[in-house]
Amino acid sequence: MHRRKFLKIAGSASVIVAATAGTGFFLTRSPTDALKPWKNAGSIYSDPIRWALSYAILAPNPHNRQPWLVDLISDTDAVLYCDPDRLLPVTDPFSRQIVIGLGCFLELFSIAASNQGYQAGIRYFPEGEPGEKLDRRPIAYLSLKQQPDLKADPLFTQCLNRQTNRSPFDTSRQVSDTTLQGLSEVSVGDVRVAVTNSEKLRDELRVLTRDAMVTEFRTADAYQESVDLMRIGRAEIERNPDGIFLSGAFLESLRLAGILTRENLADPNSKAFQTGLSMVEENTMSAMGFIWINTLGNERISQIEVGRAYMRIALQASAEKLAIQPMSQALQEYSAVEPYYKTIHASLAQQPGERVQMLARIGYAANTGPTPRWPLEARIMES
Ligand SMILES: Cc1cc2nc3c(=O)[nH]c(=O)nc-3n(C[C@H](O)[C@H](O)[C@H](O)COP(=O)(O)O)c2cc1C
Repeated sequence: MHRRKFLKIAGSASVIVAATAGTGFFLTRSPTDALKPWKNAGSIYSDPIRWALSYAILAPNPHNRQPWLVDLISDTDAVLYCDPDRLLPVTDPFSRQIVIGLGCFLELFSIAASNQGYQAGIRYFPEGEPGEKLDRRPIAYLSLKQQPDLKADPLFTQCLNRQTNRSPFDTSRQVSDTTLQGLSEVSVGDVRVAVTNSEKLRDELRVLTRDAMVTEFRTADAYQESVDLMRIGRAEIERNPDGIFLSGAFLESLRLAGILTRENLADPNSKAFQTGLSMVEENTMSAMGFIWINTLGNERISQIEVGRAYMRIALQASAEKLAIQPMSQALQEYSAVEPYYKTIHASLAQQPGERVQMLARIGYAANTGPTPRWPLEARIMES
């Protein structure tokens, strides 16, 4: 959440800020355990499979649900499953986005393995591809083979820098054609990547992404799905290092003052809710360009490939010091956002049946830091 905006609603929170200043409170609000997986990646694991997986768990994924579950077979082999308890049934009824997130995971796994001289063999849906609903069959078999002449993927250098940036972007800085070109050169399977920095299309997409997100805010069950996943303050984040995290000394003080609560966040008449809406306005209207990933069909394998492509785009953006944030509301498959779904497909899909699978705004902004993760051990299945 944006500090400046919350200042407006602070009121009595300032009392708490004053009361806690100098007590060490401000120094201890960072969820250090929840951020440990970023430090542990590549450093505490010696076997190749855990080493690569310790990076894979840092992949972007919807609402930071971290739906991956891994069954370790040996030091080089594993099976990837989707955790059925980590879906988003309201806003992602067919788990399309969850599968895209698993695609991001697989790409990061493969990039990390290459840095150790291992080629990642990945067999998608080895026991069959799920239909409309995900089932308990595996998402992929993973196996690592040493290949001494293998070149490390250059995007590896960005694994620990990449982040989703939810702050307003700098509207005085354009995204150059060359930078856009670099992002769109990603090639994975049959996905089609397209970009724009043209003022006209950018402005249309700014409005469309804003309106779709406002609609999601105002659709009670869709918004409640997000609110239920909000982790407010350090203690909640450390207990559940997933979902949407609201942390930092200032937001802690609002929480202690009873201003920042799940109830307020869900109440359209509350200042917390209204503040959220104005942040939506600020963020969407500061997009300086957009990137989108389309597929001709909507097979599960296409969704995995979209994730793999998005992973590469996000790492490339990080290499370019470009901020990126997926803006998924207009692409979602529930009735309240259907008008936006139709408009965006009329605008960005070229052929009948073509799907816009991911849309992200890009621009420049200061880094916002990594997001919490469950430790790798918590995502490994017990035998
Ligand atoms: C398929 C997909 C859809 C996403 N949609 C959104 C979105 O609409 N808005 C947003 O802020 N982040 C979105 N994200 C980003 C995730 O929220 C983010 O990856 C997650 O919270 C972890 O944070 P990190 O990327 O900074 O590591 C999406 C990610 C994926 C893979």
